[in-house]
Amino acid sequence: MSYIADILKEEYIGQIAELEKEYFGGDAWSENLIRAEIGQENKHYTVICEDGKVVAYGGFAQVLDEGHIMNIAVRKEYRRQGYAKAVLKDFSEKAKKYGVKRFTLEVRESNLPARKLYEAAGFEFVGIRKGYYSDKENCCIYWSSQEVLF
Ligand SMILES: CC(C)(COP(=O)(O)OP(=O)(O)OC[C@H]1O[C@@H](n2cnc3c(N)ncnc32)[C@H](O)[C@@H]1OP(=O)(O)O)[C@@H](O)C(=O)NCCC(=O)NCCS
Repeated sequence: MSYIADILKEEYIGQIAELEKEYFGGDAWSENLIRAEIGQENKHYTVICEDGKVVAYGGFAQVLDEGHIMNIAVRKEYRRQGYAKAVLKDFSEKAKKYGVKRFTLEVRESNLPARKLYEAAGFEFVGIRKGYYSDKENCCIYWSSQEVLF
């Protein structure tokens, strides 16, 4: 793994939108929505490329000293190689830089790979919102009491 973590840029938007569609279906962010995130002061994105191809990305919104993780995804053929971990570690670096002290996120109850990832990163499960998603699946709420993920 010889990655460089970059920020969100126009050149990545098309690939990210494709991955969103493939992995999040009806909940996917469109190209325009993603593009509108560029340059927002309270939004912090990490994009990891290999040979010019986006292989992992994620972002969080900063609300005062909290980081709300909005999305994270890794291209299928690159999973279980530490890319999501690398994205979360980069979030920690950004947290230190911008004064974020804790993180929170929501994840589908059935999304066990993501839940395992967040638990491995130090997040605690704090509760469920019933019927949260458009298809009525429950979401699980997680918090990390510190900015250091992994
Ligand atoms: C969830 C996701 C981002 C994980 O990405 P990844 O790059 O494969 O994760 P990593 O390789 O960095 O894994 C780090 C740790 O998380 C846990 N983990 C990740 N995927 C796991 C899985 N499928 N099963 C069990 N544990 C898993 C493990 O503890 C792992 O450490 P290990 O490999 O040393 O055991 C990836 O599966 C994905 O893109 N899924 C589709 C999009 C999605 O659901 N995103 C989350 C929305 S909330």
